[in-house]
Amino acid sequence: MTDRYAVIGNPISHSKSPLIHSLFAEQTGQDISYETIEAPLDGFVATIARLRSENYKGCNVTVPFKFNAFECATELSERALAAQAVNTLTFDDGKITGDNTDGAGLVRDIELNIGVTLQGKRVLLMGAGGAAYGVVLPLLTADASLIIANRTANKALELARKFPAADVRGCSYPELDNQQFDVIINATSAGLTDSEVPLPAGIFAPGALAYDMMYGRETPFIKFAREQGVQVADGLGMLVEQAAEAFFIWRGVRPDTTPVIAALRAS
Ligand code: ATR
Repeated sequence: MTDRYAVIGNPISHSKSPLIHSLFAEQTGQDISYETIEAPLDGFVATIARLRSENYKGCNVTVPFKFNAFECATELSERALAAQAVNTLTFDDGKITGDNTDGAGLVRDIELNIGVTLQGKRVLLMGAGGAAYGVVLPLLTADASLIIANRTANKALELARKFPAADVRGCSYPELDNQQFDVIINATSAGLTDSEVPLPAGIFAPGALAYDMMYGRETPFIKFAREQGVQVADGLGMLVEQAAEAFFIWRGVRPDTTPVIAALRAS
């Protein structure tokens, strides 16, 4: 019997997840179906109840329901706890297990696809909202030396304080003056409104990587990075890698992401 999965969001019609998971399934010979479900804004819990009653095996969760998914899980992974958000639910034996694969997806894209090792690197994470929360623990697990900068500096300090034993601290943008980083990751929503993030000139170390978690548009951050002559990457690889991590959780098989990223770039 075909095992059923879905991605829940609102809106959801433009999601690339069904295409990504169908390519994974074809490649690995897994018999699954994967559809989009637009839940009403007040209807997340009811949607999960329906999927469970119809024997779905799990689902992905996207905007604006990642915190609802966190609250409805009966078990949570360490990375879901650190993220305070869940993007992957697995239904099994009456349990609802919540995980967050976003940060692992980011780290795998940077290290395996782009080929930049994070260990010991000076990494600047911009933003302290949901997108930033999702990636801090995996960046620290990769042994990066992490600074989190945010327009509202207190939120960056608060996020950094959640990892008291780790090499991480929060700050404002002006405090970045005269510092340099090997990897700068944009986890802000500034690109959505074509706004600049206020980075000082000279922020990139020689050979640095500028990574924008957004994809499908050239953000002012990426434009700025190009002008500085550094390597740039968008979030398409992360999108595919977080999906591969969810696929691995559900199916125990790790798909090859390279042809899937290439197919999405071509489409
Ligand atoms: P998401 O879930 O996408 O992270 P969010 O929780 O609303 O969305 O967080 C948006 C992040 O982008 C925040 O860190 C926000 O900074 P503030 O906490 O100061 O609001 C950041 N952000 C949004 N627009 C920005 C801009 N123009 N310049 C700098 N940071 C910006």
